[in-house]
Amino acid sequence: MAPAEHPPTPDPAHPSVGAGAPGHSRRGEVLPDDPGSRPELLDLAALEEQARGLLPPDVTAFYAGGAEGEVTLGEATPAWRAWRLRPRVLTGVGAVRLGTSLLGSEVAIPIGVAPWAYQALAHPDGELATARGAAAAGALMTVSTSATAALADVAAAEPTGPRWFQLYRLHSPAYTDELARRAGAAGYRALVLTVDLSVLGRRLRETAHRFALPDDLPLPNRPDGTVPTADSPVWTLDDVGRFGRLSGLPVVVKGVLRGDDAARCVDAGAAAVWVSTHGGRQADPVVASAVALPEVVAAVGGRAEVYADGGIRSGSDVLTALALGARAVFVGRPAIWGLATGGADGVRAVLDGLAAQLATTMLLCGLGDAAAVPRDTVTQAPGSIAGGP
Ligand SMILES: Cc1cc2nc3c(=O)[nH]c(=O)nc-3n(C[C@H](O)[C@H](O)[C@H](O)COP(=O)(O)O)c2cc1C
Repeated sequence: MAPAEHPPTPDPAHPSVGAGAPGHSRRGEVLPDDPGSRPELLDLAALEEQARGLLPPDVTAFYAGGAEGEVTLGEATPAWRAWRLRPRVLTGVGAVRLGTSLLGSEVAIPIGVAPWAYQALAHPDGELATARGAAAAGALMTVSTSATAALADVAAAEPTGPRWFQLYRLHSPAYTDELARRAGAAGYRALVLTVDLSVLGRRLRETAHRFALPDDLPLPNRPDGTVPTADSPVWTLDDVGRFGRLSGLPVVVKGVLRGDDAARCVDAGAAAVWVSTHGGRQADPVVASAVALPEVVAAVGGRAEVYADGGIRSGSDVLTALALGARAVFVGRPAIWGLATGGADGVRAVLDGLAAQLATTMLLCGLGDAAAVPRDTVTQAPGSIAGGP
């Protein structure tokens, strides 16, 4: 797929929001456009509210909650907003290119769908709908080990969309190995090792709401129904290379929050490092992704790609992450609320909406290429929590 251009086409002939129209303006404002769609203004808070009205309270608690005191969860978005943009003027930039490549796969936007579990609890079509929505937005999707659809079925649902498979350490080491091989065979383009879940975080909201998986929930990638357990050998750096060889895929290490760890992962053969707090669902309180990202980028030193997730809720959050050195960002809960409220279209609307915000913000900052956002696009807000060690 060719990287998407987002030209700011003032076009009074197309004043309304509607699929397929080439561009539009409102009261002289120039808005960037997204080919094939016309993202409405995205209101994620309202979307979450709508999803909460549709989902059972225990499922909402599972999706929305964090671990322990939820400090990490609460700091995620404010940490991105502890940075301020430094717009450039008179740059002559009149169009925005949002497309980039992620480990060699072309994507139309630098915003992907993070792996998240049990999507059939949000919508009957679960991961298949997410795959369609992500592909329609030109975004990469990461499919969880804890998906409610078989990894091969998700691949078949949307054969052209780039996809990565996220691997957990499972009860059976042999089965984990088998899953890695299957991901390679099913056309997934990278294997994402989630390394921040040696045990499950203590998620008090879920417990308070007595969240439990329905007995009939399909977990085809986890046939023994287990979560990662201590019965399985603990992963080490050697597993980075080992899973790469088993799957034949580049390995992304997800859940890295320190520069020294990131460097060790890259030395061990990781093609990319994914800065993440697991949505504030594991250790708590930990450094926000926005705080850890600059340290990780510096330690990796361009030897591997770096991504970030956690609390990304606006185009300016995305732009901040790109300026701090992330090649792409991923969203978890925004995609959950999109899926719950609108299935594939809902996922697409969230991704399109964030992409439209990103394009507008880039234009306003005089930036034309999401794959080349200069570090000096952002500065710490006075008295902010943005500082690292
Ligand atoms: C309900 C839920 C389930 C998740 N399941 C997984 C998972 O199966 N594998 C994984 O690596 N991360 C999982 N995550 C973490 C996400 O991949 C991602 O790191 C996080 O959601 C990003 O933060 P955000 O929700 O603020 O965007 C999950 C997150 C949530 C909220």
